[in-house]
Amino acid sequence: MASRKPIVAGNWKMNGSVELITTMAETLKSASNNNIDVLIFPPFPLLSKALEAGITAGSQTVSHENAGAFTGEVDAKLVSELGCKYTLVGHSERRSIYGESNDDVAAKFEKAQQHNLMPILCVGESEAQREQGLTESVVSEQINAVINKLGVAALVNSVIAYEPVWAIGTGKTASPEQAQQVHKFIRNEIAALDAVVAQNIALLYGGSVNDQNSELLFAQADIDGGLIGGASLKPDAFINICNSAQRNA
Ligand code: PGA
Repeated sequence: MASRKPIVAGNWKMNGSVELITTMAETLKSASNNNIDVLIFPPFPLLSKALEAGITAGSQTVSHENAGAFTGEVDAKLVSELGCKYTLVGHSERRSIYGESNDDVAAKFEKAQQHNLMPILCVGESEAQREQGLTESVVSEQINAVINKLGVAALVNSVIAYEPVWAIGTGKTASPEQAQQVHKFIRNEIAALDAVVAQNIALLYGGSVNDQNSELLFAQADIDGGLIGGASLKPDAFINICNSAQRNA
């Protein structure tokens, strides 16, 4: 896994509670995961609680605007000021349910970095796109939207999460080989522009990762950890997933 530090990130989506923050904080403290970074992306109202409890937390999205008259939106600057270091951008649910385009995602990516948040750029193809052999072109278009706007150097302070849409919340995980194939493709595409950036960027896999399949996924050469949805709401399963990343660090 080269010298890249693995990351295990829990995406709580619109789930979780004040109580779960407490339980998760206790569970994470009881484990020693020194060689990996463990992050939680809870809903906005729980961010302060998570940070106070000692959890490294980030937001699930940020606005592409600066503070102002945008009811319901959240400014990256505020998320950063609170003490967060990361934000997700372009999660497939944001793209499909809230209509975020590649350009919108690139704008959010830029705004996050302007305020010292490390964006985790989520990319991935739908089932129909995979069946039509479009996986590589879809993923490369999603990443190129950022590179074309900000240059390949912008990827230095970022992470990419490959999450095939057909694997999210479905129990249908990509096989370790399928996932590795796309991760390798992503790294090669970036390497064609800048070999050092490609070598150093962490590439996470997401989509029905659980504590039964994480070990083999994280053992792949170009998989540097995971973005975990459902299983990140279960502290015991989540810690097992962290432990498998730790073993592969
Ligand atoms: P899942 O979600 O692990 O529940 O499939 C992953 C994600 O949406 O980030």
